[in-house]
Amino acid sequence: MDRTLLRAEFPVLTDVAYLNAGTCGPLPRAAGAAAVGLLHQAEQHGRSADHFGVLIAAQDGRRRRLADLVGAARPEDVALTTATTDGIVHVLQGLEWARGDEIVVAEHEHPGLLGPLAALIRQHGVHVRTAPLERIVEAVGPETKLVACSHVRWTDGQVAPAALAELRGRVPVLLDGAQGLGAVPVDVQALGCAFYAGPGQKWLCGPIGTGMLWIDPAWQDRVAARGPAYLNLEAPAEGLDARPWPDARAHDAIATSAEITTSANAAFDVLAEEGWDSLMAGAADLAEALVRRLEAAGRTVAPRGRTTLVAWSDPEPAATRDRLAAAGVVVRDLPGTDLLRASVGAWNDEGDLERLVAALA
Ligand SMILES: Cc1ncc(COP(=O)(O)O)c(C=O)c1O
Repeated sequence: MDRTLLRAEFPVLTDVAYLNAGTCGPLPRAAGAAAVGLLHQAEQHGRSADHFGVLIAAQDGRRRRLADLVGAARPEDVALTTATTDGIVHVLQGLEWARGDEIVVAEHEHPGLLGPLAALIRQHGVHVRTAPLERIVEAVGPETKLVACSHVRWTDGQVAPAALAELRGRVPVLLDGAQGLGAVPVDVQALGCAFYAGPGQKWLCGPIGTGMLWIDPAWQDRVAARGPAYLNLEAPAEGLDARPWPDARAHDAIATSAEITTSANAAFDVLAEEGWDSLMAGAADLAEALVRRLEAAGRTVAPRGRTTLVAWSDPEPAATRDRLAAAGVVVRDLPGTDLLRASVGAWNDEGDLERLVAALA
């Protein structure tokens, strides 16, 4: 991988040590150009059949790209959502629940999972039980109807245990892939999950408003489409007889735009061009290099997996975050913890890490 060439695709990296893809990835120039180009076309020529033709082609392309990336058997097993949370909501609101049904969740999950779960507790009286991520499989009991946890935990980069795959056929697993998709290898078949929800705006470097949800074909008819709209219907002209697609397309976002979908595809292609294996290995190696630098500088790094997130303790995380930002280094603090978190992508380099550690001193 030629890191210099890759870095040149991302204008923000010229001046900033941008280490925040766990929030939003750096946007490649090609992604901005694709969106702006289509907006200008719409300005000049209006938005009619041609424009929607571009949208449909972009959506088909997006579904194919994402299906390839996660090892889906078919593109139709992937829904095009607006965000990780959108996919989580489709699963949680689409499954049937009875009062007292148990959901096992890992500790320290993100509000993107906890918010929709809290809504289920209020709506259906489900019971949510929390277990340590590393022991989540052992926490599953006869009453458990769903296991929901991060593939990669947002606070420290820990990875969900491989033993989750043993639950396949017993209890469905919903993986929150917000810090997994595009960051670490994702093979939905090997993970053994029933649902994998991920973002387009983080490690895929696309615009906000893009996400995906993979649904195991064995579960597609058990997740109701709560409000299927035009794009979710197999034959929209059939009026009240129109049925949702019998696959994940029933959960596509109700509205999306040609601009952001084309832009997301352009961002994806910049990364895919590098080769996902080398991109992910390069990012994980660089994250490990950051751990070594931080430890050498006397910092305590939170235990983590081989991922792209590195979190360390700081006495005043919010103030330090602002101080680093003023020095052109972008990381984030994690509210409710004493941690600062750097997100390391293959687009970063040793110079970015050096700037971070120097600015911390
Ligand atoms: C683990 C985790 N889950 C969910 C989310 C929410 O993601 P989205 O904005 O794509 O819904 C995030 C965002 O930071 C996250 O880190």
